Amino acid sequence: MQLLSQFLRRNDTDEQLMDLIATLMVACKEIALKLREGALAGVLGTTDITNVQGETQKKLDVISNEILKTVLLNHSLVAGVASEEESESVPGFKDGRFLVVFDPLDGSSNIDINVSVGTIFSILEAPKDEDFSTEHPYLQNGRKQLAAGYVLYGPSAVLVLTTGKGVNMFTLSHTGDFLLTRENVMIPEETREFAINMSNHRFWEPAMRNYVDDLLLGADGPREKNYNMRWVAAMVAEVHRVLTRGGIFTYPWDARSPKKPGKLRLMYEGNPMSMLIEQAGGLATNCYSDILDVQPDDIHERVSVSLGSRKEVEVLMEYHQRTE
Ligand code: AHG
Ligand code: MN
Ligand code: MN
Ligand code: MN
Repeated sequence: MQLLSQFLRRNDTDEQLMDLIATLMVACKEIALKLREGALAGVLGTTDITNVQGETQKKLDVISNEILKTVLLNHSLVAGVASEEESESVPGFKDGRFLVVFDPLDGSSNIDINVSVGTIFSILEAPKDEDFSTEHPYLQNGRKQLAAGYVLYGPSAVLVLTTGKGVNMFTLSHTGDFLLTRENVMIPEETREFAINMSNHRFWEPAMRNYVDDLLLGADGPREKNYNMRWVAAMVAEVHRVLTRGGIFTYPWDARSPKKPGKLRLMYEGNPMSMLIEQAGGLATNCYSDILDVQPDDIHERVSVSLGSRKEVEVLMEYHQRTE
């Protein structure tokens, strides 16, 4: 069994990046403990606070965000953090080398029903001579990420990490160590499994509707095979399934939010997940181009996300090209 630290050292990971990842995992282990105790720790349920996304925060959204902020902002390598749950970015150490961007708890509607949730993170280089109390230094496209990943809190807690040299999975042991359990993950190119919130069907663009309608026709339709559907309502769990056995996950733009191109956030959800998917041989697109090439104008910017098995995502993009 290989420890996360041993694995990263053997793969010539930058010492400071290793140090930062270890620190991030201190926070994630603390979140895992809170989640495990659930009602016993009094952490379930909702607050009366609305976050900058317009969502009512769950107690665990707030707790996870505070744990990550406290742990990261005490680390001298951290120049600042940005979070789904913070209206503005928070400055750290002036000479810090890294910016850390995170979704402290993804899938928060699953908390109270005891279903999988996760922490998603993205690590960027802090540009020199910038003011880290402004958003500007964070507005880098996804290709600039030094590392990205998530910790899925499911039946077991699993860290899925990329530092730009493939994707690897580490399971949290009873001793509190992350141990390598899957190396060099590659997503199958083809799939018969899709994940989308079908209740939004009437709001999608015609191309998305046509694509999904054809999946539903199965072997009798143009796709000539039967598909199965899954929906956990937590992107982190959908992406984990896709990385584990293939599939396509999509949360597309819909007509209810004409000014917001989707529900998911580019910097906290779209970019880190897209880096993992590309590193595992899959594709991640906004239906027209790679999510990693989208230039953010706002830390809370939203994006239409479709990702997973390469050939399936290519078909989805063809449906969109045809109607352009
Ligand atoms: P978050 O809990 O961080 O706000 O994100 C929730 C997102 C994402 O995880 C998931 O794919 C989607 O919301 C589920 O939305 P539906 O309510 O449409 O199922
Ligand atoms: Mn949220
Ligand atoms: Mn989320
Ligand atoms: Mn969240």
